[in-house]
Amino acid sequence: MDVTSLAARSLSGLLEQATGQQLVTGRRWRIETALQPVMRAHGITSLDQLAGMAFQPAAHDLRNEVVEALLNHETSFFRDLASFRLLGTEGLETMARRRTAQKRLRIWSAGCSTGQEAYSVALLLAARPDRWAGWTIEILGTDVSPAAIGQARDGLYSQFEVQRGLPIGELLARFDPEGEAWRIKPALRSRVMFSVHNLLDRPPEGVFDIILCRNVLLYFTAERRRAVFDRLTAAMAADGLLILGAGETILDQSEAFEPDPDLRGFYRRTGQA
Ligand SMILES: C[S@@+](CC[C@H](N)C(=O)[O-])C[C@H]1O[C@@H](n2cnc3c(N)ncnc32)[C@H](O)[C@@H]1O
Repeated sequence: MDVTSLAARSLSGLLEQATGQQLVTGRRWRIETALQPVMRAHGITSLDQLAGMAFQPAAHDLRNEVVEALLNHETSFFRDLASFRLLGTEGLETMARRRTAQKRLRIWSAGCSTGQEAYSVALLLAARPDRWAGWTIEILGTDVSPAAIGQARDGLYSQFEVQRGLPIGELLARFDPEGEAWRIKPALRSRVMFSVHNLLDRPPEGVFDIILCRNVLLYFTAERRRAVFDRLTAAMAADGLLILGAGETILDQSEAFEPDPDLRGFYRRTGQA
């Protein structure tokens, strides 16, 4: 495929407009492969034909299908294990100390894909029932993709998905087998709320104590990334924690957050001692 074709660029432009995600040249090869199912479903034989149809004014549904197909939902349970270890120990303990009076915590997994990240947080909490007895802990998982949020809500994962990062003990204790797949048990399912949300829009209502926004902003332009970080500051408690993906940094990206000196790899609002 000619990766610089007008059709490929127009279709990846739809993704960027809707979600902020840029398909950089290195990832453009994905376009035709990723769009094959959409083309097949509509009997379309080329990217040019798809672009021609998708840009018809009334083709909202087709445009949404294109955007959905081009999103990268790569994720796994306890992805970047070191980060989850830190969250499960000092991260949550630090926030618990700050909230001893209220015994309430709100945690937001922003760009949660198919839910593994949000459920991993729920699993951390469920592993220490005595520690969290009497606490009200809200976990919200959001993603721009209705399909990803649909799977997260179903809590249904293939054998391949549960094998990625989920310890076998957790699998057997917290999931029920269902055919070839595994469904998260209702007790854990009910601890997490999911909704469709675009990080380009205003954040969900209320203030969060911990925000995970991991492997989502990598392909945003610097300008958009900065704007999202500004919004995240507004959605986070003054003494809250921000957690990014293992390969991500805030340095030179935003003045709103700075590395937390006590929690390596986590961020706090700038100037918050
Ligand atoms: C690579 S996955 C990362 C999932 C998870 N956070 C992790 O680190 O494993 C990126 C997710 O961000 C979502 N996403 C992309 N742009 C978004 C936007 N503007 N608002 C909300 N979610 C977005 C995608 O749909 C995808 O599910």
